[in-house]
Amino acid sequence: MTTPLRRRQVLGLGLAGLGTAVVGPLLWDRVQHSAARAQPAGATRLGSVGGVADLELVASATPGRLPGGPATLLTYNGRSPGPLLEVNAGDQVRLLLRNDLQEPTNLHFHGLHIPPTGSGDNVFLTVPPGGSFSYEFTLAKDHPAGLFYVHPHHHGHSADQVFGGLGGALVVRGNLDRIPEVAAASESVLVLKDFASADGTAEAGMGMGMERMLGREGPLLTVNGELNPGLAIPSGGLLRLRLLNASNARIYRLALEGHRMVLIATDGGAIATPEALDELLLAPGERADVLVQGNQTPGSYRLLNLPYQRSGHMGMGQVADAPQTLATLNYAGSVAPLPLPKTLIPVAALPQPERTRRFSLAHAMGMGMGGMQHGMGGGGMGGGGMGFVINGQPFDPDRIDTRVSLSSTEDWLIVNDDVMDHPFHLHVNPFQVISRAGRPEAQRRWKDTLQVKAGEEVRIRVTFKDFTGRTVYHCHNLDHEDLGLMGVLQID
Ligand code: C2O
Ligand code: CU
Ligand code: CU
Repeated sequence: MTTPLRRRQVLGLGLAGLGTAVVGPLLWDRVQHSAARAQPAGATRLGSVGGVADLELVASATPGRLPGGPATLLTYNGRSPGPLLEVNAGDQVRLLLRNDLQEPTNLHFHGLHIPPTGSGDNVFLTVPPGGSFSYEFTLAKDHPAGLFYVHPHHHGHSADQVFGGLGGALVVRGNLDRIPEVAAASESVLVLKDFASADGTAEAGMGMGMERMLGREGPLLTVNGELNPGLAIPSGGLLRLRLLNASNARIYRLALEGHRMVLIATDGGAIATPEALDELLLAPGERADVLVQGNQTPGSYRLLNLPYQRSGHMGMGQVADAPQTLATLNYAGSVAPLPLPKTLIPVAALPQPERTRRFSLAHAMGMGMGGMQHGMGGGGMGGGGMGFVINGQPFDPDRIDTRVSLSSTEDWLIVNDDVMDHPFHLHVNPFQVISRAGRPEAQRRWKDTLQVKAGEEVRIRVTFKDFTGRTVYHCHNLDHEDLGLMGVLQID
């Protein structure tokens, strides 16, 4: 079964040619492309062959086109989003990053359970302009199958580079893909990303400092670099939508007209029992895997982004008052009805925690405020002296904020003491949500990024497995991260 993406308007594609950025589709079909094949420059998909993934990403600023005029886009291999990377659990991965930007960059393998040190998921590395670095690691044979996210993570540049277009999806194939009902579904990876308009406008009517404080959102809502692409489903068919929020700061509230979305995986992990949803909130860095059944009257149905208020403060974080169309599901043809899976993959309970820590997330404004006096020197404050703090302190790469022991289990209380949402993200080890605002979670699920609303308190549980070393946790509103909302975790 194929999942053709009908092209409506492809950003940048009009000028496609030598040296022109292509913002374009990376929808692909598993059946059609399952054979190993060469990886030409400009390929929309790069994969592994015989257990080895030999990949290359070139980061560059490329002239392209957005609705409204020419614009410079930041791309991997000339594309935004970058090529879809597809590997298998157990694969050896070598990924050469070449930096053709005018500023430092690096890579982060968001959600992968790999070492945070050396040539692994090491976000403390700098790849200077003109430089390159070979990331090398092996995925465990039992690495969860799921949708992951590759993006730049050089502190102080993360938001600019992601907002400008850098980032892409990484699929790890494994256990979840072998469940017969899941395997029978056709599949589309949808990278959700907003762009500034061609003249660089993010949110109108706000100074740059305020834009960054809220986290920049752009008015152009794209799916795989396209405005309102079509998704085909036959009557009776099953479509697996693999959603990645690769936006700098935008929180999506997704709904599919006439259809429920049946959740099968959250972030990088399958859940135990499918769960039908009317809407789905997806904060930056979060992923969700849903099945859609083609069981409605044949026609066209919009995938919508519903209004969402990301700040509890009057006038901050403006909300579009009408739903915005992201993509359109179109019925085409019919097949014998495909069933939904009844069960997926068990999610084991984590051991009882050895200790509980509290992380208070907040913003700090101006020089005089508590916690900011120490931070102004080194914490990467911008935006006119505004910044963000965890337990009163802005990020300092030379300070270890949290030390944990390998193989231990801890509860972390993530307390949003702020007037805006902060999606909390931990590298290397996935966690489980124990309770939200005191209410226990209904179903255990693996998460690595978690929306924490203004004023909310969430208890998560994590076991620090397999890898020692230094890594980070932070807000995945990347402007907030660059403005200090990040801490250093040392696993000994
Ligand atoms: Cu996707 Cu540390 O980030
Ligand atoms: Cu990450
Ligand atoms: Cu934040």
